[in-house]
Amino acid sequence: MVIVSPSILSADFLNLERDIKRLESADANFIHIDIMDGVFVDNITWGPSTVSEIRKITSLTLDVHLMVNKPERIIDEYIKTKANIITIHPESTIFLRKTLLQIKNSGLKAGLALKLETPINAIENCLDLIDVVLLLTCDEGFGGMDFHPLSLEKISLLSKWRRDQGLDFKIEVDGGVNLETGKLCKEAGADILVSGSYIFKRDMKKAINLLKNV
Ligand code: DX5
Ligand code: ZN
Repeated sequence: MVIVSPSILSADFLNLERDIKRLESADANFIHIDIMDGVFVDNITWGPSTVSEIRKITSLTLDVHLMVNKPERIIDEYIKTKANIITIHPESTIFLRKTLLQIKNSGLKAGLALKLETPINAIENCLDLIDVVLLLTCDEGFGGMDFHPLSLEKISLLSKWRRDQGLDFKIEVDGGVNLETGKLCKEAGADILVSGSYIFKRDMKKAINLLKNV
């Protein structure tokens, strides 16, 4: 079974607690939280204080995807939230290893997220530090966009690379994931499916269960 990480970018922002409880009852594995700063991506969502509040109401794994410029400036604040996984983008910082090390040294899991057009060798010098590689499978910044087929090749390549080098990071895909694209991602080697609009527009429990079993 794959791990399903519903993205609360598709939740009702005025009723986040209610929607997170709904995700818990629907057997979500993780909660995916997209942090967007309006600079690295055009959209703006939440900051560390919201993540801390979410931490208080759920024990599900909090999977925080930082789409912010220069994450090194604010990483301590996210570490303090006690999220479980913090994922940063190599395109957003010149202090990649330093920032990943800060996450790891705090006992949290560290992830590297790659934009659609970023080649997978961007993770090459950080393999010793990462628990997760998140591949954006659509253009960044908004929910409800189409899955880009270029992603499948990247997943396969990454999966082959992981196998050949005996590595054990998880492969997470994020953007335009539904039953059809989720199945293709799993077949290509993905372990974690992030999904926002697909889950929130349907019977949540059914959608999550179907995604787990693609
Ligand atoms: C896109 C975000 C995704 C987004 C996915 O920049 O990182 O997490 O919420 O949403 P869907 O599943 O609707 O494409
Ligand atoms: Zn995301």
